[in-house]
Amino acid sequence: MEEERAKRIELQEEQRALSLQLVASQEQELNRRAELNIVSDEMENLRKKHAREMADLEFDLQKKDRLLREASEDLRACRSDLERERETVSSLKSALNAQSNERLTLTAEYRSFQTQFSALQNQYDELLRTHADLKLDLEVERREKAQMKEEAMENEAMRRKLHNMVQELKGNIRVFCRVRPVLPSDIPQPNCGPRTNSPEHSSNEELALIRQELKADINFPDRRDHREITIWSSSESATGQERKENYQFMFDKVFEPECTQAEVFEEISMLAQSCVDGYNVCIFAYGQTGSGKSFTMEGGATDATKGMIPRAVDQVFRVAEDLRSKGWEYQMEGQFLEIYNETINDLLGKHEFDKKKHEIKHDPKTSSTRVTDLTVIPLSSPTQVRVLLSSAQSRRSVAATLMNERSSRSHSVFTLRITGSNAGTGESCEGCLNLVDLAGSERINVSFGGGSNDKDRLKETQSINRSLSALGDVIAALGEKSERGDKHIPYRNSKLTYLLQNSLSGNSKTLMVLNLSPLASHLNESLTSLRFATKVNNTTLGTAKKQSR
Ligand SMILES: Nc1ncnc2c1ncn2[C@@H]1O[C@H](COP(=O)(O)OP(=O)(O)O)[C@@H](O)[C@H]1O
Ligand SMILES: [Mg+2]
Repeated sequence: MEEERAKRIELQEEQRALSLQLVASQEQELNRRAELNIVSDEMENLRKKHAREMADLEFDLQKKDRLLREASEDLRACRSDLERERETVSSLKSALNAQSNERLTLTAEYRSFQTQFSALQNQYDELLRTHADLKLDLEVERREKAQMKEEAMENEAMRRKLHNMVQELKGNIRVFCRVRPVLPSDIPQPNCGPRTNSPEHSSNEELALIRQELKADINFPDRRDHREITIWSSSESATGQERKENYQFMFDKVFEPECTQAEVFEEISMLAQSCVDGYNVCIFAYGQTGSGKSFTMEGGATDATKGMIPRAVDQVFRVAEDLRSKGWEYQMEGQFLEIYNETINDLLGKHEFDKKKHEIKHDPKTSSTRVTDLTVIPLSSPTQVRVLLSSAQSRRSVAATLMNERSSRSHSVFTLRITGSNAGTGESCEGCLNLVDLAGSERINVSFGGGSNDKDRLKETQSINRSLSALGDVIAALGEKSERGDKHIPYRNSKLTYLLQNSLSGNSKTLMVLNLSPLASHLNESLTSLRFATKVNNTTLGTAKKQSR
């Protein structure tokens, strides 16, 4: 029992120990459990943190991944860029190589060119020196030439001056002589002229020959001043022998058949100019019918053939326009009349035949002349004047066909009156330009048979002769007057001279253009005309010029 009790005590002890041990273990377990809980909480926290970190890392990773991708793409691009650059560099390198090769060749070429150039430069310098020498020579020559030219010009100026002095001495009356060319109409047509034996004027040579035959022996010996005209005329002496005589005439200017309207006008233009300056000017065309009076005065329709009237009108308008800049204002008016059988007809009137009676009125105060009831038209342009003249002309030609070539049996007088004033200087002036196409100067044999036609013709002829010789007398007397001082001038001896009294007297300028036919058949008329004109011309010099034979 003891043993048992001992044993039970031992067992109890053992049990107590074990319970203690159990409590301790339980306690330990609780502790462990609490620890475990703490640990598991920690674990949980850690796990959450880890998950968060993992997510962050995942995000980072993705970002990095993207960046990496981008970077690798960039890298690829860079690589290809680099590749290209490399290629470029290598091609540049080869180009550079080629260029440097080229440069080498060019340098070589340049060197050779340089040597060539310096050789050429030397040649050029040499040429320059030669050129300078030549220039010097040329300059010397030029100076010599200029000096000679100057001397020649001085001589010419002196000659002109002397010529002008002679003209001044001669007063204000000039006489020109103009010979017209042979015209196709002068050549007789086969079967109707004297040359009936020639069937046709075919060749040019034949025509030239015929022209030569038709022509009078007229010569122009004065090649420099064109002032002389000579004529050979043959006549039969009392013994039946042919006698050749040479006549020589001098005028202020002689125009050969080839002379153009412009050349003739060149000599006249100063007159047109002076009527703008306030002078009275008369230009007459004298000569037998068909000698070229109307051609000279009116001329043809073209610019080259237009005559003195349109040219003078153009000139007057031009000069007036030029003087406008110097303060001058001009008014122009025109009249156009015809003197037939000592009666005045208005060529600008409304009717074909003028039935009005016109009278000539001189105003001694203003030295101007008016014709009563005459149409006076204000003129504003040369074109207007031309239209006016052509209408007057057509009226005249109508009258001509109706009245037996009346245009060549009457004097026509175109008058352009110019009044100018200068507001700046207070000056004023009045000039008058008269352009006269005279009646034919030919002597007409009127066999007076008692018929009314013959009577008219006789009257017509007498009045033409009278008026032409009155004109000659007046101009001659004017010339003498300028020599001797006061002298009676017979203006009243004809309508024409009476009409032009104020334009012929005083400080007026008068020009007579003597028109001549070149034909041998007209030679006697031509000689008569030349003598008439010489009378007019000589008197103005005072010393009669000899008509040598
Ligand atoms: N210098 C000339 N050049 C060319 N033809 C002219 C010349 N002079 C006159 N004629 C011509 O001669 C002809 C007669 O001339 P015209 O002027 O009518 O003479 P007039 O008026 O003296 O009777 C006209 O056909 C004219 O055209
Ligand atoms: Mg005529």
